Amino acid sequence: MKTNMRTSYCNDIDENNIDKSVELSGWASTIRDHGGLIFIDLRDRTGIIQIVSDPEINSKAHAIMEKIRNEYVIQIKGKVRERGENSINVKIPTGRIEIIVEEVNILNTCIPLPFQIDENIDTDENVRLKYRYLDLRRPNINKNFLIKSQTMQIVRKFFEDRQFIEVETPYLTKSTPEGARDYLVPSRIYKNHFFALPQSPQILKQILMTSGFDRYFQIVRCFRDEDLRADRQPEFTQIDFEMSFVNEENIIETTEELIKEIFSKILNLKFESKFERLTYQESMNRFGNDRPDMRFGLELTDITNVFKDTDFKVFKDVITNNGTIKSIKVENASISRKDIDELTLYAQEHGAKGLAWIKVNEDGLQSPIIKFFSESELSDLKNKLDLKTGDIVFFGAGDIEEVNKYLSAVRLKLGEDLKLINYDDYKFVWIVDFPLFINDKNNLTSVHHPFTMPEENNDFSDFTKIKSKAYDIVLNGIELGGGSIRIHKRDLQEKIFEILKISKDEYLKNFEFLLNALESGTPPHGGLALGLDRILMLLTKSDSIRDVIAFPKTQKSSCLLTDAPSKVFSKNQLEELGIELIEDEDQQ
Ligand code: AMO
Ligand code: AMP
Repeated sequence: MKTNMRTSYCNDIDENNIDKSVELSGWASTIRDHGGLIFIDLRDRTGIIQIVSDPEINSKAHAIMEKIRNEYVIQIKGKVRERGENSINVKIPTGRIEIIVEEVNILNTCIPLPFQIDENIDTDENVRLKYRYLDLRRPNINKNFLIKSQTMQIVRKFFEDRQFIEVETPYLTKSTPEGARDYLVPSRIYKNHFFALPQSPQILKQILMTSGFDRYFQIVRCFRDEDLRADRQPEFTQIDFEMSFVNEENIIETTEELIKEIFSKILNLKFESKFERLTYQESMNRFGNDRPDMRFGLELTDITNVFKDTDFKVFKDVITNNGTIKSIKVENASISRKDIDELTLYAQEHGAKGLAWIKVNEDGLQSPIIKFFSESELSDLKNKLDLKTGDIVFFGAGDIEEVNKYLSAVRLKLGEDLKLINYDDYKFVWIVDFPLFINDKNNLTSVHHPFTMPEENNDFSDFTKIKSKAYDIVLNGIELGGGSIRIHKRDLQEKIFEILKISKDEYLKNFEFLLNALESGTPPHGGLALGLDRILMLLTKSDSIRDVIAFPKTQKSSCLLTDAPSKVFSKNQLEELGIELIEDEDQQ
């Protein structure tokens, strides 16, 4: 890209430019003084190119080159020349050429930096986040944002080609329940009143369907105050869409096409068939969670029946209390006692009381608990799990939710530890047939959100058995997106609020505008939202979502670069908002 300070980017220069004059601008990345000759790797966004100055050829330029230090910003003018046979660098695209400097200009200097601008350095993440401007200068991190930008262009083109309209919804709005805490913004004009930052544009995109927009999409920021994980940030971006006059298949198909478009354009993946589908129940049974990593086996098996009459106290107590026993079989395992102890600790960290195991050796079964089992139990177990010499079986016994939770964690750890995962694999799977509600500590809550349409012909006598028209798309154990057909009539929406024990007073206060819309000619509609940052994490094989967000928050929801959140020192500002501070925790 030509500007008044450059004729091209570094990586655009190749052997075709030999003997041509070029002007380049960028950062001095490595500097080597070879007794007279000075070599600098000049870096810009596209890559690096070697520049050389020779005092014999140009003493004035050389004198300036001598002053250049690491990360100085420089502009050079020079001639492209072929490198000698012995100095070719095959590691970089410009490794066969170099620029012999004719003019050089120092545009800015640089203080000694807290870490090197190098993709191979291993620097503490807090330091990287504090000096994010330097971290983002590193080519490997920088590259993620190029891919993110390309992905956003693909998304926009995809929706535009299918007659979707991009509509912005407000950030200063009313609470949308998506299961997290809201970030609140006090209103100056209406004392004691707050805006909520949207957890998603859910209700407003539904209202756009009432307004006849028919097909809406938005690449939109969402805000959720929740406990953070490697794939969660308090503000993140959704690819959000909604369509009128559709069924679940239409939404699933649109999403699948979009995902295939992104992954084939960015990663060159080929897709020959439709994504696999699992019902929620099947996913829970086989993998212990609703976001299964399908890149490897080690599936869970329910073996409660095998032990229904057991004398082993641990299992007996569990069965008496309507609990479940599930197992994971590892074939041909080289797992030591030390590995088992570590795995048991890991299971305990995820809520297990213990992790019983049985090893199948050539001379029979081995386990500290073998003595508690009858011959027939052991032979039933062997048949049920098709046990062979070399196998090891781990057992989880307890409440089904608890067992699923820790055995799914154990499964993932075994998959990683035993190197069963092919990290070049992309295994997409749809999870369908979700229940509408779950019983969370005797509290009925929506599995997705309260605007999700129940399946037809549901028996409302047991709320936990009601199925919903919701679907999630999962990739390699990460939930990429979720959506549903929505309730489009007021009476059903009110009924759902009532089942959720939201009082009429409360739901009218929060959602009357939606209920009014639902009785004002809202068409049947549905949609979905994909987590853009999570998609980028997978596209770039990043371990953390923070590596694909330019200015992310830490695990503790703060920004180390700007030091936000920060205290407000202007009393005036607080008074205007009607806010009085409680005692400062620093002074407690
Ligand atoms: P949901 O809550 O499942 O659905 O969110 C959709 C997708 O957004 C991503 N996501 C996140 N990414 C990073 N950090 C977070 N804290 C975070 N929370 C969610 C996930 C998730 O699958 N309104 C519905 C969508 C709909 O029904 O249309 C919704 O927001 O990838
Ligand atoms: P204990 O009788 O507590 O010493 O347990 C005997 C064996 O059973 C040990 O290997 C424990 O790890 C295992 N164990 C204990 N409780 C459970 C449980 N709820 N599920 C699976 N294994 C368990």
